[in-house]
Amino acid sequence: MEKVRVKDKEFGPYLTEAVIAAKVKELADALNRDYAGKKPLFIAILNGSFMFASDLFKQINIDAEISFIKLASYKGMKSSGNVITAIGLEQDLYARDVIIVEDIVDTGKTLHHFLPQLQHQQPASLRIAALLHKPEATQFPLQIDYVGFAIPNKFVVGYGLDYDGLGRNLKEIYQLA
Ligand code: IMP
Repeated sequence: MEKVRVKDKEFGPYLTEAVIAAKVKELADALNRDYAGKKPLFIAILNGSFMFASDLFKQINIDAEISFIKLASYKGMKSSGNVITAIGLEQDLYARDVIIVEDIVDTGKTLHHFLPQLQHQQPASLRIAALLHKPEATQFPLQIDYVGFAIPNKFVVGYGLDYDGLGRNLKEIYQLA
């Protein structure tokens, strides 16, 4: 792996394809074990998680469904809090075993605000699988049940993650130099 330039910034090699693939397999093994006999519904949060979700789902060998949603966040006119809406969620989550698939949890803000909306539909269970987690950046309490890598609080790109829209196509994960 060599350094890469994405837009105006330089990124150094961080996680190779092989290391990522091994971790994804490990997460899938845990999910296959924990959800055996159930029919979980994976909900992948676009855009960043598309590569992770695809590779993870290929390794799932129990009956399972997957759906993709996009979160749109905007400031309420009056309230200071962010309102988060999900675009594309068609399934009824009632009594389902739901697994949220995220590329990275940074401050935890997005999921912290969004999860109550899912809980509202009364799923049988609701867990989070995140490829990356920046524990030092956490500002909003969030239980992440399946974590690929806990990483330092530095910006990363590649494997679906972008810097200003670019770098998602990189096969490896790079860290800001
Ligand atoms: P949070 O709400 O602060 O946890 O932010 C989560 C979202 O921010 C992720 O789904 C990513 O889209 C984006 N994000 C956070 N950190 C990074 C990073 O290091 N690289 C690329 N995107 C990031």
